Amino acid sequence: MTVTARAYPNIALVKYWGKADEDLILPVAGSMSMTLDDYPTTTSVTLADTETFNLNGTEQDGAGSARVHTFLGFIRDLAEKQGLPTATAHARVVSVNEGPTAAGMASSASGFAALAVAAAAAYGLDLDTKDLSRLARRGSGSASRSIIDRFAVWHAGDDESSYAEEIQAPDMAMISVPVATGEKAVSSRKGMVATATTSPFYPEWITSTEQILEEMIDACTAGDFTTIGEIAEVHAMRMHAVIAASRPSIRYLNSASLDVFDRIAQLREEGIETYGTADAGPNVFAITKPGDAAAVAKAFAPFTRDGDAKILFPGRGAHLVDTDQVRAGTGEQP
Ligand code: DP6
Repeated sequence: MTVTARAYPNIALVKYWGKADEDLILPVAGSMSMTLDDYPTTTSVTLADTETFNLNGTEQDGAGSARVHTFLGFIRDLAEKQGLPTATAHARVVSVNEGPTAAGMASSASGFAALAVAAAAAYGLDLDTKDLSRLARRGSGSASRSIIDRFAVWHAGDDESSYAEEIQAPDMAMISVPVATGEKAVSSRKGMVATATTSPFYPEWITSTEQILEEMIDACTAGDFTTIGEIAEVHAMRMHAVIAASRPSIRYLNSASLDVFDRIAQLREEGIETYGTADAGPNVFAITKPGDAAAVAKAFAPFTRDGDAKILFPGRGAHLVDTDQVRAGTGEQP
């Protein structure tokens, strides 16, 4: 039997950058994000005699599949703990990613969130949302947040207490401004280690992130869009600053990204309240109130390659979808 799940990327408004435990993927500080309503990853898992991973129609081997195989090992460990007969089974994983892979569009978040939900169901694991978030975290830290609907806070802590949960926040939109596609130069995983070991600002980054997360949670609870936007922008800049201070320096933003941040500041001066953020890549997301989204997208159309800045809203956390309908291209459309 084949089980299929779908998950969306999330964009952090308080960033995760740095691990307290590499193996368990425990962050040095908590973070907060919005799950998007587009760029889904749809993943099917079928128990099988051999383990294979197909991504966007291509069979993966070597590094491309190593993280997936390691992750399936965690699933089997859980199956064994729950005394399930599936504990020895391998899996065929087929994944389709509709966002640009590894270009700062958080494909590992949607990828491991979808895999966690599909594989947990295929192996017959009994896991609640918290445990699914903990499980997804082992694949990729930010995947813990893509399990959650709309807005999530991922707690720092130990293996038990480090998971994401929903937080109420005012409705908002993100406009993705994809200034570049293609593989990024330094993976998040490597960039985090380089920052932790060589950036002199790293200790400050950790303490300031803890403080700013508290402010962000208060702003979300108060429905204060302005403070949310200001925090998101300054925290993104702090992340890029602590990374740039690594030796040798790592820089994810390029000149086109900076042009987008300049235009965002200009839009604010023109009276449209919008703020910027960017993950470990050059693509920028503009954060706006839903009513301003169309105007902001229009302002950024000339900045993108295909002239198309995409408007994204808060989306669903990872969930099961009907395999037959996905194959037939019917049912819930991403
Ligand atoms: C810049 O979750 O991709 O997007 O845990 O090593 O898989 P690993 O890293 P990953 O890092 C995401 C970093 C970020 C910020 C964020 O999403 O909070």
